[in-house]
Amino acid sequence: MTDQILPAAQTPHDLDFISHSPAQTERIGARLGRLLCAGDLILLSGPLGAGKTQLIKGIARGLGYDGPVTSPTFVLINEYRADAAHHRVPIYHVDLYRLDGVRELSTIGLDELLMTEGVCLIEWPERVAMALPSEHLQIVLSYVSETKRQVRLMPRGQRYRDLLATFKEATFG
Ligand SMILES: Nc1ncnc2c1ncn2[C@@H]1O[C@H](COP(=O)(O)OP(=O)(O)O)[C@@H](O)[C@H]1O
Ligand SMILES: [Mg+2]
Repeated sequence: MTDQILPAAQTPHDLDFISHSPAQTERIGARLGRLLCAGDLILLSGPLGAGKTQLIKGIARGLGYDGPVTSPTFVLINEYRADAAHHRVPIYHVDLYRLDGVRELSTIGLDELLMTEGVCLIEWPERVAMALPSEHLQIVLSYVSETKRQVRLMPRGQRYRDLLATFKEATFG
């Protein structure tokens, strides 16, 4: 089921690095979050505890939201709100861990959500791989050690290649 999103090979646009702490993962997220606009779609993969929610917390901070960010594991979708500098766009934090395949998908209204003008952040996208738009930024987190995680950013589509180029410039100069 994961094959639809997880690419077999890296492309030259991919960006790979190591985060050395939860705080660093949050900062990386904030750098990325600042650059996001309504309509953007980010898919976050990696096992439980990899840091998907931690990264999303940073993304929400970057968009100017400073309320609580927790994995919506039971409710599936949390909604936050960006600040005025980011046009108060809705931020949808989706966790599909408990979703039982594409058949259940319509019950949570993800299609409608993807059509609205918000920023959409999805944990466990593999659960519904085929139902998601092919243009997105995929982020894969993997466990390196207790405090280290590998972060791989994989843009799919021109919007996300541009986004990543801006992110690289802002982060690594
Ligand atoms: N470099 C790191 N980046 C992100 N989280 C880390 C890192 N090192 C340790 N952690 C810990 O790993 C856990 C990640 O949890 P969480 O973000 O909820 O994972 P997920 O949403 O992928 O299941 C947190 O307890 C966090 O403190
Ligand atoms: Mg999570």
